[in-house]
Amino acid sequence: MQTGNHQNKVWRGITQVPGNVEAGIPTVIKWIEKKEVVATELACSLAGQALKLQIPVGSIVLAEPGDLPTLPDRVIQNNPKSVICYGSELQWPDDLQARPVASSGIENLVWDSLCKTAQGPNGAAWDELVTNEDRHHENVVFDGKKWWLIDHERSLETVAQVMQRFTEQTSKQKILNAQAKQNRLLREVLNRRPTDHNMNKLPKSWERMQQRLRWLASSSEKWKTSIPEVDSVLMMTSHYLWSIDLRLPTLALHLQKRMISPNNKLQWDSLS
Ligand SMILES: Nc1ncnc2c1ncn2[C@@H]1O[C@H](COP(=O)(O)OP(=O)(O)OP(=O)(O)O)[C@@H](O)[C@H]1O
Ligand SMILES: [Mg+2]
Repeated sequence: MQTGNHQNKVWRGITQVPGNVEAGIPTVIKWIEKKEVVATELACSLAGQALKLQIPVGSIVLAEPGDLPTLPDRVIQNNPKSVICYGSELQWPDDLQARPVASSGIENLVWDSLCKTAQGPNGAAWDELVTNEDRHHENVVFDGKKWWLIDHERSLETVAQVMQRFTEQTSKQKILNAQAKQNRLLREVLNRRPTDHNMNKLPKSWERMQQRLRWLASSSEKWKTSIPEVDSVLMMTSHYLWSIDLRLPTLALHLQKRMISPNNKLQWDSLS
């Protein structure tokens, strides 16, 4: 079933791990043209879970084109057997919540409710870590109890720029220095709970989990399937994971600078 009016094609469906006979997993399936963006999504989901954030489990979905109505013809012609998509485990949205309409003030309600929970400051620091500049109020999902952070397409864009030269020192420096144009959630958190967000404690507590991130990044280098297109997404996922690991020790500094002027794009000097 196609859902909503979004930048990408998004469907709800049931996915199955190949060879697994258990019941399928309800999944939001998103077709994304650029394969490095599938890798960004997957890496953010994996790293976010390693850091114990509330981000839905992600997957690479191989979908039969016939199962994805409204997929552009050229995509079907180029991928007659299966199309690579990003899968995000469906978090049933709370149907009691008002649906967004232009003037309903829903946006304000979303920020208010999200910022009050731990997921507000957590998400703000996370977005700084992965240079996510697209945390608008529909890129979070409330399941009735918890808020989930979704849609990390516009994260770590510097990594895509240096992917071919990933191991070079200048590329690493670019990844370290990168900063999103904005951090919307951080601004909302600072406005709505200026004194008790405790955001500055997060970098240290996440650094204590860095080993988990490192293990994940290192394991991901060995992930292989028999499908070259999937392996290329996995290889890029690995670069993204290493980049998040690389940036973690500089998060405190990035956050500090962002908090000083949350409304502006900061002018960066080299961190080295
Ligand atoms: N794991 C999930 N659980 C529940 N709903 C989800 C999940 N992932 C995505 N959605 C729903 O699908 C919508 C589109 O997903 P997503 O934001 O990832 O795609 P998008 O096309 O990049 O969005 P946009 O460009 O409009 O921000 C979300 O706004 C949300 O309503
Ligand atoms: Mg979105």
